[in-house]
Amino acid sequence: MNPIKAMLGLGVLGLAGWISTAIFLPSETVAAPQQFTSSGECQSCHTQVYEEWQASAHANSWVNPDVRDQSNNFSNTDCIDCHAPRPIFETGIGKRVLPRASRRNEGVDCIACHVLPGGGVAGTMEGPSAVCRPTARRELTREEFCGVCHDQHKTVQQWKGSRYAEQGIGCIECHMPYRNNDPAQGREHTCKGGHDMDMVKSAVTIRGVREAGAWVIEVENIGAGHSFPTDERSRAADLFWKPVGSDSKAWKQFYRFRSPYRWEVDVVDNLLEVHETRRLPLTDEGSGGAIEVAIFYKRSPYYESTEKPDPEREANLLHRIELTP
Ligand code: HEC
Ligand code: HEC
Ligand code: HEC
Ligand code: HEC
Ligand code: HEC
Repeated sequence: MNPIKAMLGLGVLGLAGWISTAIFLPSETVAAPQQFTSSGECQSCHTQVYEEWQASAHANSWVNPDVRDQSNNFSNTDCIDCHAPRPIFETGIGKRVLPRASRRNEGVDCIACHVLPGGGVAGTMEGPSAVCRPTARRELTREEFCGVCHDQHKTVQQWKGSRYAEQGIGCIECHMPYRNNDPAQGREHTCKGGHDMDMVKSAVTIRGVREAGAWVIEVENIGAGHSFPTDERSRAADLFWKPVGSDSKAWKQFYRFRSPYRWEVDVVDNLLEVHETRRLPLTDEGSGGAIEVAIFYKRSPYYESTEKPDPEREANLLHRIELTP
């Protein structure tokens, strides 16, 4: 050992711990963590995470045209908080995030989720020699972490009442799974949700049951860890039927799952709850024979056309079944 360090080391035995740590750790760890101001600064070292994040709704949350439109280009300043937030660890988990003043076009960025007050980043490991100075913070994996922005429509509360919560299957198990199912490869940052049709398809299943010469359509929430469709009030899932072999204009809507905006006093909140099976008797004239039934998903029925809708053009087909008596 370097004699000067040894001597100093002995001298500080009774002094504050941080002094001896500073002396005995390798010299490069003594430097303060780099202060990061933009997600672009993480890109060169965390290329894969960066690319996944860029493809995510999080990265898009400020520039998203639907958000801009509905917030009147963010002249409704309440909308800035979660769509361009300051670091979560700064305000604290369980508290509402604060709006950021700069770089808003980066949306929900690396800094918002990872940067700790005083420097360094929250991660799964201690990395005293990395410039970003990661420390292991379990809070990142908690539902309340996502909940600072995702509980305004009770998504976290719904999950808490589910069997997934009992089994320890949290938000990140479904939305940020390990790459190639390998914990050593870290977690996907694409955060798939309502913009990924495979993800949405995995949430529900539909089937028909014959009862007294008519069909009862059963819709089951088999894959969402919360109500379906979740979180964003503008989402809707619609059930349609038509006689087998007729064209797409013949689809007739018979049910809609939706959570209304506050001003839509005539719309009932009827989201399909976690694990729920909803039984919907089909009573329309002519629906008792050979029919097709389909469930369609709409991200923005807010912009729905007023003409007779053609779901095959305007919405996303999730599942389609053929029923013969
Ligand atoms: C600082 C606020 C904030 C935090 C924290 C946050 N999100 Fe988000 N999240 C958003 C916003 C805003 C959007 C919507 C962006 C848009 O579509 O414009 C979003 C969208 C999503 C979506 C929808 C993607 C889609 O395709 O529609 C998923 C899934 C998601 N987040 C998962 C998570 C998970 C899991 C966590 C916790 C690890 C998390 N989020 C933490 C703000 C946040
Ligand atoms: C408390 C946090 C929070 C606030 C405040 C907030 N949002 Fe969001 N917003 C979210 C989250 C989380 C999502 C993602 C949920 C989802 O996509 O289902 C989202 C999604 C959206 C979407 C859907 C985007 C898409 O890609 O389909 C729109 C539109 C939207 N917000 C508009 C607004 C408007 C307008 C305001 C202000 C009136 C606002 N938000 C305020 C958290 C917030
Ligand atoms: C100069 C390269 C460099 C830059 C720039 C950088 N990091 Fe890191 N980061 C590292 C290294 C090296 C590690 C340690 C990784 C390892 O050993 O697997 C690390 C680790 C991490 C971890 C912990 C990884 C884990 O598995 O838990 C997180 C989180 C992280 N960085 C986030 C960021 C964020 C966010 C930024 C930008 C604000 C950033 N880093 C900027 C090099 C960098
Ligand atoms: C919505 C919040 C959120 C955003 C935005 C986000 N991360 Fe993460 N990140 C997480 C969570 C949650 C984990 C998983 C932590 C765990 O498993 O303990 C994670 C894990 C990581 C890790 C550990 C290794 C891995 O790949 O899982 C690194 C490195 C990392 N993030 C870097 C970044 C960088 C760089 C950005 C921006 C390009 C970014 N993150 C954006 C929430 C986020
Ligand atoms: C068992 C898997 C699972 C778990 C656990 C889970 N989700 Fe989801 N989530 C899904 C599926 C499947 C969808 C797509 C269907 C839908 O929109 O409901 C989804 C959709 C979403 C969306 C997108 C909604 C939209 O309109 O774009 C958000 C946001 C979201 N989940 C947040 C969360 C949060 C926050 C948690 C933790 C409290 C969580 N999820 C737990 C499976 C899961």
